[in-house]
Amino acid sequence: MNEWQDGLVSFLPSSRGRLTGYDLDRFPGGTLFDRLGRAVCQAGCLPRKELYESWEVARRVRRLFRGGRVIDLGAGHGLLAQILIILDDSSPEALVVDTRLPPSARKVHEGLVEIWPRLAGRVAFVASGLDDIAILPTDVVVSSHACGALTDRVLERAAEARARVAVLPCCHDSAGCEAGELAGWVDSPVAIDIHRAVRLQQRGYRIWTQTIPAAITPQNRLLLGAPAP
Ligand SMILES: C[S@@+](CC[C@H](N)C(=O)[O-])C[C@H]1O[C@@H](n2cnc3c(N)ncnc32)[C@H](O)[C@@H]1O
Repeated sequence: MNEWQDGLVSFLPSSRGRLTGYDLDRFPGGTLFDRLGRAVCQAGCLPRKELYESWEVARRVRRLFRGGRVIDLGAGHGLLAQILIILDDSSPEALVVDTRLPPSARKVHEGLVEIWPRLAGRVAFVASGLDDIAILPTDVVVSSHACGALTDRVLERAAEARARVAVLPCCHDSAGCEAGELAGWVDSPVAIDIHRAVRLQQRGYRIWTQTIPAAITPQNRLLLGAPAP
């Protein structure tokens, strides 16, 4: 059981409803997750599922990848990038990249900095397409729910740079994404993700296939990769 699973029935983590000051009592403790939850409630603009997704992805990424600049592509509010730094200071900085950065991203960031002042000056918000970002081999590239073929672009960009990468794909589009030969046996979204994993391996990556709890999102397959030594 995760730290957030008490009271799950009445408070679904998959909700797209915004967390606001009314939800502060849901995060009463002194744990890192509760402190994060309260900061997000105070900001009052993030969908509930975004908090849970980002937290679960970040924890899994940090079990495998330390150090290096964090690059969050298709980042939305950039919560994932910031949790990665909060969880592990070994990354000096984070780049939050989105073609359409939500104006409320600033509010979320300021709320987090109030609680974790060490975040100040270490998170850059870049309004840009992911193809315009220079990626280094030392970077950790992450992307949560980059829709359809955007996940493939993230994997492609990370692999070109030989950077570590973690993606939580969504909106599997059988016209835009390759399913390989497996689509006759397994559902098209599963075939697409297996194909992604195999392709990454063929590019000389060690891969890890994991899931985050389905109670948060049915689009819960997490693919992580690092250049094989
Ligand atoms: C489904 S949202 C995911 C947002 C966030 N990562 C999350 O988990 O909540 C996909 C995001 O990708 C962004 N996006 C779409 N095309 C992009 C591109 N070419 N480069 C960078 N971001 C892009 C969109 O603006 C949107 O914010």
